[in-house]
Amino acid sequence: MSGNARDTLFTRIAPAIAGVQSPVMDSIPIVISGSGNMGRQVALAAAADPATEPLAFIDALGEGDTCEGLPLYRDAAPALDAHNPEVVVDFSNAAWTPVLARAALERGVRLVIGTTGLPAAFLDELREEAAARRVGVVVAPNFAIGAVLLMYFSRQAARFFDHAEIIELHHAGKVDAPSGTAKATAEQMVEARGEPFQRVEAEVQTVPDTRGGEVGGVTLHSVRLPGLVAHQEVLLGGLGQTLSLRHDSTGRDSFMPGVLAAVKAVRETEGLVVGLDALFGLD
Ligand SMILES: NC(=O)c1ccc[n+]([C@@H]2O[C@H](COP(=O)([O-])OP(=O)(O)OC[C@H]3O[C@@H](n4cnc5c(N)ncnc54)[C@H](O)[C@@H]3O)[C@@H](O)[C@H]2O)c1
Repeated sequence: MSGNARDTLFTRIAPAIAGVQSPVMDSIPIVISGSGNMGRQVALAAAADPATEPLAFIDALGEGDTCEGLPLYRDAAPALDAHNPEVVVDFSNAAWTPVLARAALERGVRLVIGTTGLPAAFLDELREEAAARRVGVVVAPNFAIGAVLLMYFSRQAARFFDHAEIIELHHAGKVDAPSGTAKATAEQMVEARGEPFQRVEAEVQTVPDTRGGEVGGVTLHSVRLPGLVAHQEVLLGGLGQTLSLRHDSTGRDSFMPGVLAAVKAVRETEGLVVGLDALFGLD
């Protein structure tokens, strides 16, 4: 995408990010893949936005014939053929997304994919297929715009400091640690800096592992507590100063402005775009 194309794209999606409706935007018919927590949230957000119209759900493992008042299909093909959507939004499971993507691309239907854990080989196939068919596809591992900006600002700051630590805080039900976002933030900061950070080791740890984990010299701390949702703080330290960058997701609705912005932007793209940062030109 050229700089100008990005500027135009960002100008178009900026009102969506701010929650302002664009008077010139047509209503975009969408089908939602996955009727779980995220899929249902997408249906509600899309119904509340005059620029988007949710038509149906696809969920191979879903129960019943409807979800949130919309028809629920087990297979992709009948849902896509019956409703002819412009965009399919997918928050399902890495085992299902490739099946869905094939059915959508065969019909020239654009895709916005939020499902995580997708294999690299599938993303390679998707890139090739989307380019060959000249269909827009957005895959974003994190649709929270604030989290994407936190990673972007952290990359910018990385070369100015020799020391960095990340504290990620999540609800008690999160199974993995550190969070994928915290690990990716550390990796991107090291890449932006071109060398590992300098890690301060404690000479004596009276409680083992108190200094946390480590990626490229960035110390990672994971907090798990009931009452939390998803939070991350990046701390950078230098001579006589520190810089703290923090993002807080207080609910699943935090992902919706990013999802709706991607649904609107994917109309203007061709081929695969990975990450909201790439979509917004935050390279
Ligand atoms: N990109 C982001 O910002 C973001 C944010 C939150 C969640 N996610 C991801 O979105 C996905 C869904 O999250 P969720 O919280 O809605 O999960 P969920 O478990 O509530 O819903 C998943 C849905 O997928 C369906 N499903 C599961 N396995 C399937 C299979 N093999 N075939 C067909 N359908 C299947 C289930 O029936 C369910 O309705 C996960 O991969 C999660 O990590 C991404």
